[in-house]
Parts: sequence; structure tokens; C-alpha cells
Amino acid sequence: MKPSINIPTTSLQDYLSTCSELCVGNHPLKHIEKLVSRTPFYAYDRQLIINRVLQLTNTLPKEISLHYAIKANPYPSLVQLMAAQVSGFDVASKKEMLLAIQTGMPAEKISFAGPGKTAEDIEAAIIAGVTLHVESSGEIAKVKLAANQLKLKANIAIRVNPKFELKSSGMKMSGGAKPFGIDEEQIPQILIDLPLEQINLRGFHIFAGSQNLNADAIISAQQQTFALAEHLVELTKQITTVKIDYLNIGGGFGVPYFANEQALDVGAIADNLQALINQYKTLVTGLDLILELGRYLVAEAGIYVCKVVDKKVSRGTNYLVCDGGLHHHLANSGNFGQVIRKNYPVVIGNKLNHNERELEQVNIVGPLCTPLDILADKIMLPKASLGDYIVVFQSGAYGASASPKDFLSQPQVSEVLL
Ligand SMILES: Cc1ncc(COP(=O)(O)O)c(C=O)c1O
Repeated sequence: MKPSINIPTTSLQDYLSTCSELCVGNHPLKHIEKLVSRTPFYAYDRQLIINRVLQLTNTLPKEISLHYAIKANPYPSLVQLMAAQVSGFDVASKKEMLLAIQTGMPAEKISFAGPGKTAEDIEAAIIAGVTLHVESSGEIAKVKLAANQLKLKANIAIRVNPKFELKSSGMKMSGGAKPFGIDEEQIPQILIDLPLEQINLRGFHIFAGSQNLNADAIISAQQQTFALAEHLVELTKQITTVKIDYLNIGGGFGVPYFANEQALDVGAIADNLQALINQYKTLVTGLDLILELGRYLVAEAGIYVCKVVDKKVSRGTNYLVCDGGLHHHLANSGNFGQVIRKNYPVVIGNKLNHNERELEQVNIVGPLCTPLDILADKIMLPKASLGDYIVVFQSGAYGASASPKDFLSQPQVSEVLL
């Protein structure tokens, strides 16, 4: 039975209004520290991830299959949890592919996208039965060669670089010249040249961008995606005898990281998807329609926690120096694609019920000897003491795995799913 759509909490930040002590999976921070032995750590809340996926699948049209892009958070226990929540995985490397397969996710539900796949990646995907999302004609040639050598047929989908872009996106990945996908105007020739003896063409992948909080922009991109897909499927029929079995419409759902940002209006996107499914009935009948999301499913269920190890005042500015920073959480430091650095939501995890009069403005920094190692800048927090927990919310995606963990050879960060 599907639970009700009104699942109360899908974000760790929501707990703040209801509890005096921050907990993940009902464990207070001081206990989590003991579980993982020390700070710094990432903690991910299993139930919030489940809630988020349920809320989304209850909102989206039933024709949509939800896939998880492992790059957002490849922590093995989390990926294993995801295997039971979503219909498929998108992987971006051979290592992610092996992780995906070992969760028990069927190979035909796993796609392998990304430019620059090596012969080794391609062979492994063919052996595993995973679908390669080809990004260039050169990659198709490599797939043909590998399939010939292995005497196995390769499953592929063509990743298309459409002419349109996903407007107001944190990261634009389509439109104009891009290293991702094959330009849509090149697709007819690609279909003519497709080595169908070695290759099984399964579908098209149209991924326009990432970290988008503007529902209208996503709706517009999805409208253009369906129109382009209809054209591509028609071309495929004209040029080949292939009947494709899936269409990956990309994703791009963002999460609010900064004070002025609003949560994405997923209801509006779901309504539009339903309208598109009705409008393109002939196209979508018999096709698996895949929505591929990473951060939206996991970012708000994770926190990064480090400890205050020193307090100092430099020419009137208060500094809290912590045992963690940029080397564990590059995105929070502002060095992972931000143009102007802004603070993620940060609290002192053991001082949630503070007295307003005891607030002080602080700069929170990490232990690295570089001005880039910032955890929070000019932020008002309760007066901190040595040993306090600095907690960074919205940290369940592009955290540990997206950070230069060996930079300055500081201790590594732990991760735990609770
Ligand atoms: C092909 C592809 N799929 C999925 C994603 C995941 O994006 P997000 O985590 O923003 O949902 C990305 C991000 O770069 C991507 O390139």
C-alpha cells in the first residue's frame, strides 16, 4: 500500500522546529560521534531518504520511472538503501557501476553515462549488461570494437545534446557546444552509421542541466525534450528497424542551499509531465520514461558535522576554527561551482535552544592553511565553546565524494547512514 502523500518530513532542517537536540535516525550527535569514533562525519537519515522518494513517486505520474544518479552520493549503504526505493541507477564510472550491480539492481535498469569512457569501462559495461549512454561517434566505434572482441551485443542509448538549454540552472549541460552527448543535428548520420550487428539501441537520453529551483524552466525543458524525443523516435523508425524501449528525460531538480532560495515546486512539474504524457500518448506508449535525479533525493537528508577546536579574535573578527572543512565538504566552502560564495545553513548542533541575546557573529573556518577553507562567513550563532558541534545542513549530496580528501593530508571524514 502506498502511504499518504503528506509525509511530514523529508529534510533534516525541518527537525529544528520540533527538537532541542539535533538527531539523525533518532541518534543525537554525541552518540553518532561515538558510533563513528570521532568528528568530522557525514550522517545520512535513512527514513528521510525513504520519505523523499515516496513523496516524489506519489506526486509524479505513474508512467515515470525514478532513477538515482549515484554520483550525488555513492556511499555504499546509501546506494543499497536506494536500490529498494527507485527503479534504476545512473552510474558515471566503472566503480559506480560495480557498486550498482552489487546492490542487486537488474543490469537493464542501470545506465552508464559520461564522456571519455575507456575501453576498459566499455568492456565492463558490456559484460555486465549495463546500458552505455554513448556521448560521441568515437565512443560508438569503441563500443563496436569491444562488442566484437567479446562476442557480445552491447546495449546503448544515445545521449543527445539538444539545441535548447535548461534556463536558470546551477549547471547547464546542454545547448551550444558541450562535451556531453551528441549534437541533435548529428543524430541522423549517427543512426545511419549505427553498427546494429554489435549494438542494441535501447533509447535516448536528454539531460539538460542540474540544480534547478525554477519549475517553469524545468517544465519548458521537458516540453522541448518530449518534442525532440518524438522527432528522434520518428527518425529512428525511418532509418533503422529498431524499436527503442526507453526515454531518459533527464532531471535537474534542485534543492535550496542558500537563504534566499525556495524549494522547487514539484507539483507543477508533475502536472506538466502528466499533460505531456497525455499529449504524446503515441510516443510514450510502450516506452519506459525515466527521470534521473541525484541531489534532490539525498541532499536534504544529510549533514556534515565537525567540532570547534579553537576560538580566536583577529582585529575584531571572531573565528571558530574547526577540525573539518574544505577537504571534506568542498561544495560548502564555495569552491564547487559557486560564483559568489554563500553560506549553507549552519547551526551549532548542541545549542539549538539558544537565547537570542547570546548570539555572536563569527567566521567559521577549517584547519587548512588556505583562505579558501571556509565553513561559514559572517554568520550569527549562539556563543560557541570548544568542542561544540558545527553542523552543515543540505550536505547529503556532492559532499565527501566531491571533496579533495587528501588535500593537506588531514584526517579523513567518516560517513554513516542511520
Ligand atoms: C547525466 C547526469 N545525470 C544526473 C546528474 C545528477 O544531477 P543532480 O544531482 O543535480 O540531480 C548529473 C549531474 O551532473 C548528470 O550529469
